[in-house]
Amino acid sequence: MNQLIDNFGRQITYLRLAVTDRCNLRCQYCMPAQGINIVDRKELLTYKEMYRITRVLSELGVNKVRLTGGEPFVRKDFVKFLEMLDFNDLLDEINITTNGALIRKHIKTIERLKIKSINLSIDSLDKKKFADITRRDVFDEVYETLELLEKSNINLKLNVVVQSGINTDELADFVELTKDKNIAVRFIEEMPFNGVGLKEEKDVWDYNKILSEIETKYDNIEKLVDGKSSTSRNFKVNNYTGTFGIIPAFTRTICGDCNRIRITATGIFKNCLFDDGVFNVRDFIRNGASNEDLKKLFLSIVAKKPKDGFVAEKQRNSDVSESMSTIGG
Ligand code: 5AD
Ligand code: SF4
Repeated sequence: MNQLIDNFGRQITYLRLAVTDRCNLRCQYCMPAQGINIVDRKELLTYKEMYRITRVLSELGVNKVRLTGGEPFVRKDFVKFLEMLDFNDLLDEINITTNGALIRKHIKTIERLKIKSINLSIDSLDKKKFADITRRDVFDEVYETLELLEKSNINLKLNVVVQSGINTDELADFVELTKDKNIAVRFIEEMPFNGVGLKEEKDVWDYNKILSEIETKYDNIEKLVDGKSSTSRNFKVNNYTGTFGIIPAFTRTICGDCNRIRITATGIFKNCLFDDGVFNVRDFIRNGASNEDLKKLFLSIVAKKPKDGFVAEKQRNSDVSESMSTIGG
């Protein structure tokens, strides 16, 4: 069977699919307060198109899909789409990244599907600060979701974007959550994908700084063995139930084992988070491409996957200023 292997010998087994560019929150590091360009609905891939793209990719060896956005649960009938994807027997895992504000009533349904893990975005444990970061007052809903998911049979990961001077005083509070909760907290280096571009940074919170800060609070941290292609470097405080990790999203030290590709909500294929889109799959499909055409296309694009996020960034035609809501986390 044909497999998606790039020129560096990396096999692509993981698709991140953005189901919408819309979001019910307005996180500071992701979107401006107003005036984000959302696209017309007919520009979005339909669920059928997404199902088909995923199916073809799964026939080429993709066995894991992460659904992202924007906020996936904002799109009408998203849970029905999950049920539809669940039929694809070539997928071992379907995961979701969500801000958690809209999912409480769906947890029972999701538990019955192949949803192995949910990444919940939560950047502060302080209600007021959470509202400042997200520009919406939904902390209580999100925290309730956190507790429900922790008790469910779905693995729970928390995404914490480390924002200099904003939540950098809370790193240990997040680590403390892992004391009794079976969760994986992941601190993410902030990237300039905010719909505006690079902001002036007083203080860069990169991988090393995040780890040193945590090490000032704990002297009993254990390094864990990271899974192949893991996006995070993982640790655990001795005797704590959960784990914590750091995602070097911006310093990009994890590219060597990358097994990921992305499809944006408008059907743009991305070989790397840092490229600006290498092919419009939606138009290709709408112009009548067959599944065989799609397979040939995917094989040829993946072959050209850039070595790392720095090379991908150099090859861009535009600045890295798009919003994560259009890229898909
Ligand atoms: N830098 C780092 N992470 C980001 N995310 C969104 N925007 C950024 C950014 N500028 C992450 C959020 C969310 C996921 C979808 O992407 O943590 O969990
Ligand atoms: Fe929405 Fe996620 Fe962007 Fe926040 S980071 S505005 S939750 S898409």
